[in-house]
Amino acid sequence: MSHKKVAILLSGGGSNMVALLDSMTGDHPARASLVMSNDSEAGGLKKAAARGIATAAVDHRPFKGDRATFEAELIKPLIAAEPDIVCLAGFMRVLTADFVTQFQGRMLNIHPSLLPKYKGLHTHARALEAGDAHHGCTVHEVTAALDDGPILGQATVDVLPEDTPDLLAARVLKKEHMLYPAVLRRFAQGDRTPILLS
Ligand code: GRF
Repeated sequence: MSHKKVAILLSGGGSNMVALLDSMTGDHPARASLVMSNDSEAGGLKKAAARGIATAAVDHRPFKGDRATFEAELIKPLIAAEPDIVCLAGFMRVLTADFVTQFQGRMLNIHPSLLPKYKGLHTHARALEAGDAHHGCTVHEVTAALDDGPILGQATVDVLPEDTPDLLAARVLKKEHMLYPAVLRRFAQGDRTPILLS
């Protein structure tokens, strides 16, 4: 059986990336071909390398806000890895429409809120400030608009009276580790029916 190739982009510790890698075994229709970061020191790169996955890094800082030139470098190792699917997993750079268009329909992102609520940053604090009873995470297809695009899955947590942004983030992150692998498996099989976890 020929596996779909998955490239994963991250900026931090990569716990979602690890959950995705750990899921791609046995009869899973996909395997990772590359893990990339905009930060060569990202903990996620070391975890991927320790699992025998090819890694690459393109530091965004020398490009000083010139997104197009940064992305021209970022895309080189990505294209070389010939991914069928690109997973953003805590990748903290906003991508231009030109870049996203090249992977339209095969690029996924995980966002720590129940989209369309709380696009952007500080999602857990915003959910608490709003007094929401429920919060969670979303996996969606990436389109040119930030944290937009068709929703492929959501997982919900109850907001507790004693919650702080950090406590809430930790509970949501556990759900992310369940949701993203479940969506990726289904997506790699060509099924875009949204998954709902609670
Ligand atoms: C996750 O909360 C993800 O939803 C957000 O960034 C965080 C990445 O965490 N976009 P990790 O690097 O996967 O541990």
